[in-house]
Amino acid sequence: MAKIIDGKKISAQVKDECRERVAAEGLDVTLAVIQVGNDPASAVYVGNKKKACEYTGMHSLSYELPEETTEEELLALVEKLNQDEKVHGILVQLPLPRHIDEDKVIETISPKKDVDGFHPQSVGALSIGQPGFVSCTPAGVIQLLKRSGVEMDGRECVIVGRSNIVGKPMAMLMLRENATVTVCHSHTKDLKEVTKRADILIVAIGKPKFITREYVKEGAVVIDVGIHRGENNKLCGDVDFDDVEPVVSAITPVPGGVGPMTIAMLMNNCVEAKGIQNA
Ligand code: GUN
Repeated sequence: MAKIIDGKKISAQVKDECRERVAAEGLDVTLAVIQVGNDPASAVYVGNKKKACEYTGMHSLSYELPEETTEEELLALVEKLNQDEKVHGILVQLPLPRHIDEDKVIETISPKKDVDGFHPQSVGALSIGQPGFVSCTPAGVIQLLKRSGVEMDGRECVIVGRSNIVGKPMAMLMLRENATVTVCHSHTKDLKEVTKRADILIVAIGKPKFITREYVKEGAVVIDVGIHRGENNKLCGDVDFDDVEPVVSAITPVPGGVGPMTIAMLMNNCVEAKGIQNA
């Protein structure tokens, strides 16, 4: 029987630690959240981020802009929030409407307020081991592993997926933990042969139930970053949980695994942002 890595429990611990720090140090922290257009999934994420701010004792400022908002208008708002000393973190919910250049928007956010960790300066700092904000989902995976007692030092870690938000920063974080890291992607030849080497297999490919037991070494730890709505409206991940669970030593479920960690780590980044700006 595999150990089920409980993301609900671990994310609650992280949020409680943030809440305690905010209360104990009397921190006045504000996160500005910008959403452009009315993508329903984004609206749910943004709502959850605001709720988490409330829970941890932080303030949130919400900017719900119409779909027709121009790039110039959005950039002007980001610049205004950069200058606003009462705002410590800025989050622009992605995806943005097609007429707005996402890279340009991300590059306009002050690296000191980049709580998503998407700014090129944050990404660069991570890759050379300097302080900076780390993308919340991969940072959450590290917390899941650490708080579940999974040893990373010297172990084989295979990451499937090379996105800027998950796969690439995940590789940098696992290197920081002294794992031996391999990143696979759609051009990888004989994917199964590579994933079967993993002591720790992290999957972020966006394909429902793609990873079956043929891809996994017996006793491995499997982290599933995917989330999809499958048959009968049921949520599932990139890993076929029922097929893989019996052969591994530990696995994250979907839902209740990696998902809740993203917002918990965002809260953590907001507390850090306050610290940086007070320094
Ligand atoms: N859209 C989906 N995930 C994220 C995230 O972590 N941050 C932002 N800003 N947008 C997203």
